[in-house]
Amino acid sequence: MNSTTIKDCKVIQLNTIHNRAGNITIVEKQNEIPFNINRIYYLYDLPGGTTRGGHAHKELYQLIVAASGSFNVLLDDCISKKIVSLNRPDFGLLIVPGIWRELFEISSGAICLVLASCKYEESDYIRDYEGFKKAKNIL
Ligand code: TYD
Repeated sequence: MNSTTIKDCKVIQLNTIHNRAGNITIVEKQNEIPFNINRIYYLYDLPGGTTRGGHAHKELYQLIVAASGSFNVLLDDCISKKIVSLNRPDFGLLIVPGIWRELFEISSGAICLVLASCKYEESDYIRDYEGFKKAKNIL
């Protein structure tokens, strides 16, 4: 995780079938995303003004989708930062291990869908920024 950068994180256009009766977006493992999906979770009923994230993962890959509404994601590899805006259900943001992320400016009613490579493990989290800097070899 110490060598990953924000350039490894990218917005992926997901396979979508459009028709007059509505759209279907399909995410199939290893077809469009570079990891096996072992967990799906979603954030919803988020109070106005709330922020989420504020941590990095050691091993976990994630694809984050604004299934409804919109939000911004700050990505930080200790050297560079960038903000990605997600506002469509047919695009997903790939976040590789070793990237600090924060979700902010979450719209009312937003649903943040997360496809993840591993089951939940608290030991995979780095929740303090100083610890993150150490893990990235930034002294
Ligand atoms: P966390 O990942 O820190 O939330 P966010 O990054 O969205 O702010 O998770 C919040 C709490 O929920 C934390 O106590 C761990 C728990 N949790 C699980 O038990 N299982 C899960 O799959 C996830 C994502 C979180």
